[in-house]
Amino acid sequence: MHADVVIIGRVLTHGGEKSKISTPYGNVGAFSSRISGRDIVFISRHGDDHLPPHRVNYRAIICAAAFTGADRIIAINTVGSMISPPGSFVIPNDFIEFTKSRVSTFYEDRAVHVDMSEPYCPEIRAALMESCRAEGHEPYEGVYVCTEGPHLETRAQIKMLRCFGDVVGMTGYPEVVLARERALCYASICLVTNTAGEGQIDIDQIVSVERKSRSALARIIERAVSRIPGQRSCRCSRALENAEL
Ligand code: HPA
Repeated sequence: MHADVVIIGRVLTHGGEKSKISTPYGNVGAFSSRISGRDIVFISRHGDDHLPPHRVNYRAIICAAAFTGADRIIAINTVGSMISPPGSFVIPNDFIEFTKSRVSTFYEDRAVHVDMSEPYCPEIRAALMESCRAEGHEPYEGVYVCTEGPHLETRAQIKMLRCFGDVVGMTGYPEVVLARERALCYASICLVTNTAGEGQIDIDQIVSVERKSRSALARIIERAVSRIPGQRSCRCSRALENAEL
């Protein structure tokens, strides 16, 4: 199954022909289609069994993305926001993580230290920002905070996280790091499903915002795919140069 761009998400924005990609880390379900003359593969992050965020097989997903031949990944993440209202879109420019149990590297036996000074690909970020605007959604930028979950945050946690970041979610890490370890371009578009830190969070509200925003998200992604330059001129492809001790 060949792809130019891989989309990873829970909310299926692009269907198409379903198949399975086998990796040394496990099998991954994938849907292939075409957007603006480019081959797209949509990988469902949580799989058919809907694994919770802390049990998602992030290595299998990124490995499967690499196996398609794609060098670009667009991730879709739902988040609680500390800076913008439900229904808005945030394009992260950095991240911080507070996870506990996730395997976060492909390099278990070698000391490979990839640079993370610009974790998200600037070319895909630019395409996502422009595409949001073109669809009439002024995008926000900010720091993505990844928590372990699966519980939502306490008020005290949100008070602390406000000092570090702008949006909070459970699925953005370690995907971003694993993509860098494969020298793939990776950026995320975060759909804000709720305001973080303003009282009780209702899962029905999250699902309802997802449902309402699905077609806008699909259109933004379609535009972004067509805007991503043909050739990579970012640094992502050189991630493994001088990274090993
Ligand atoms: N916190 C963590 N993850 C989330 C949230 C949240 O408020 N909303 C959607 N995913």
